[in-house]
Amino acid sequence: MADRDRTRENGERVRIFDTTLRDGEQSPGASMQKEEKLQIARQLEKMGVDIIEAGFPVASPDDFAAVCAISEEIRGSSICALSRCRSEDIETAARALEKAKNPRIHLFLATSALHMEKKLKLAPEAVLETIDRSVRKAVELAGEVEFSAEDATRSDRDFLARAVGVAISAGARTINIPDTVGYALPSEFRELLVFLRTTVPGALDVVFSAHCHNDLGLAVANSLAAVEGGARQVECTLNGIGERAGNAAMEEVVMALRVRKAFFGLETGIRTEEFVRASRLVSTITGMLVQPNKAIVGANAFAHESGIHQDGLLKDKRTYEIMLPEQVGLSEGSLVLGKHSGRHAFRARIETLGYRLSEEDLSSAFARFKRLADQKKEIYEEDLETLLSEGSATQEKDRYRLERLVVTGGTLVPPTATLVLSIDGEERQMAGLGTGPVDAIYRTLSNITGSGARLLSFTVKGITGGSDALGEVTVRLEEEGRVAAGHGADTDILVAAARAYLEALNRLERKKERDKRAGLVQKASL
Ligand code: KIV
Ligand code: ZN
Repeated sequence: MADRDRTRENGERVRIFDTTLRDGEQSPGASMQKEEKLQIARQLEKMGVDIIEAGFPVASPDDFAAVCAISEEIRGSSICALSRCRSEDIETAARALEKAKNPRIHLFLATSALHMEKKLKLAPEAVLETIDRSVRKAVELAGEVEFSAEDATRSDRDFLARAVGVAISAGARTINIPDTVGYALPSEFRELLVFLRTTVPGALDVVFSAHCHNDLGLAVANSLAAVEGGARQVECTLNGIGERAGNAAMEEVVMALRVRKAFFGLETGIRTEEFVRASRLVSTITGMLVQPNKAIVGANAFAHESGIHQDGLLKDKRTYEIMLPEQVGLSEGSLVLGKHSGRHAFRARIETLGYRLSEEDLSSAFARFKRLADQKKEIYEEDLETLLSEGSATQEKDRYRLERLVVTGGTLVPPTATLVLSIDGEERQMAGLGTGPVDAIYRTLSNITGSGARLLSFTVKGITGGSDALGEVTVRLEEEGRVAAGHGADTDILVAAARAYLEALNRLERKKERDKRAGLVQKASL
């Protein structure tokens, strides 16, 4: 019986391995703070993700701390830490995972001739020995080990098969086949999986996994092809963020398996109704906006413009919809709270959204909510998420804080911004002109803080409908090679714009501080 027919009968499960917090964080400018990573980890657990790759502990003290914190709190998903095939990395990963209920060490070593010769400067036999030694050590320390043959799709097939065989006999129970540079084509990737599963001794006793990058726009197609070839784990990220063109998008892989279940005959454990919420959370935290036509979670993914389509939908939704918006968590916007809601209701509601705040943070979020409720009659879930994420980045002390802002403009007077900031606890005031009100604010902010940061992008969007909607501004700033995102939300978009800029400046400051503390050591290169 063909491999695929057999899986159809079994109705097996495909494990979802999320790497938003590790490979996703390698997107330029997407670095996240510990509390933000925890927030995403809680959402991943709530969605039913099987394995959360929480970070690369040896890369920096921040990564280490985030993996520790996630290991300590998350109980419903297994927690994984990345490690090179080096003793120090493996020991550090094991220490970071100490408190995890189901820990996993993810080892990787390149197997392509190009990487072995130019990057690792190791002979093929030495690579095999390193895999053997490292997997054995990791199994001893963590029990559960995954091995990735980096650049697998450009590796010699027979050598790749030997490397996989060594990892299996040393005790790895998951074998990941990464398309590290997004080079593979679906048919050849499927065949590679079939080849490895049918030729490597012990292959049928382990789980094969696919990890695809999107350089040719094929990450999701390749992941699905790998599943057809027998992979039962897919590595992916929310919104498809990740190194360069990104990784396979979890929401796309999972919805393809769900919508085309009759074809694949496979299941995932993902609660797909959480996708839109998860996507917004990642976008807000990283400052990486989702393109409107992005499959599953883009603003237009369920919007029908043409009259013929609208007519068809009215007659029967199935004419132009292959899945229901509710299945991915897209609703008309649920009214959640109003002006008269109390602190208790507020706390209960935000807990259902996955936020756990200290009493102090709860008080400040509740005060922001009350201010918003005074300006805006109806508060939707999206408003709450925006409001909460706005305060979430500030676990560490901010250098700059907006105290007051006055902006004048219109057709008669030149746009002018007058700002009062608290800088390291001291109030400072300055006024300045600009070509428009936002330009006036940003020029003045730049002058008052003395920052040389360059504005890379500025976007504004309404969170819910109506002219009283919260406006959310997202900016990305760059200074001396460091990139940071910031966002601000307010019913006044000029206030939101100022807050977004300041949040990004505060993040740049923290990055500078961290680099200084780490003695300018950059993240260990992958
Ligand atoms: O793309 C890649 O090869 C990786 C490995 C570390 C799995 O991210
Ligand atoms: Zn990767």
